[in-house]
Amino acid sequence: MTDNFDPQQHFHDQRAARYDDTVRKVIPGYETLHAMAQFLLEDMLGHNAHLLIAGCGTGEEIERLAPHHPGWRFTGVDPSAAMLKQAKTRLNAKGLTERTTLIEGTVGDLDPGTRFDAAACLLVMHFLPDDGAKANLLAGISKALKPGAPLVLADLHGASDTPRYARLLAAWTRWQLSHGIDPVEVEKGLKHVARDIHFVSETRLFKLLHQAGFTTVEHFHQAFLFGGWLAIKE
Ligand SMILES: C[S@@+](CC[C@H](N)C(=O)[O-])C[C@H]1O[C@@H](n2cnc3c(N)ncnc32)[C@H](O)[C@@H]1O
Repeated sequence: MTDNFDPQQHFHDQRAARYDDTVRKVIPGYETLHAMAQFLLEDMLGHNAHLLIAGCGTGEEIERLAPHHPGWRFTGVDPSAAMLKQAKTRLNAKGLTERTTLIEGTVGDLDPGTRFDAAACLLVMHFLPDDGAKANLLAGISKALKPGAPLVLADLHGASDTPRYARLLAAWTRWQLSHGIDPVEVEKGLKHVARDIHFVSETRLFKLLHQAGFTTVEHFHQAFLFGGWLAIKE
């Protein structure tokens, strides 16, 4: 594994353009994860809310949530200009840009005076090493949230030296092949995972969340090595 994963380089124009199609084939339960995050957030928020989408990518979270909630506003941050370009096109086509602010950057680039009612950080933090970078991302999200606000988090996770990891990785590989992904692409994907994903155990994730000021943490989703958690800022 290397610590120099660059989201701008990895999520370049061509990858960003095919992301929405690829991600549904590669990530088991991608749609379900987003739907579950939607229902969890809906149960916790009122008619008016400002949501932070950390690592908004091509705008999946915003496109999914905004049409159901005319009183919700969104701020999406993402360091990849190419992913944001896709998000802008997509949200524009749905007439959702008025309630959306997109920032090219990270949570460190947010207006320090803004406090959000909720946050989502889906499939983002696993790219960051556990050398303070994961902790910084969570601290940045926590700082930006109002007390009691929910965070939905999803990541690849698990201790990579365990039989569980090997078993789930093997099953995920076969799952991708069975969904018609070219074996060469599957192989490339596995190399990307080995090189760029910083796996940590769920125990470590809970510790990171607690240290960032999230109290209640509930595991709500699991699809092979992908997990989803609901955390509440104290
Ligand atoms: C796999 S995509 C997930 C996008 C979206 N959340 C989804 O579920 O489709 C990961 C995204 O995280 C972004 N990213 C990587 N590092 C980040 C960071 N430190 N802060 C915010 N976003 C980051 C990447 O640029 C990319 O758009």
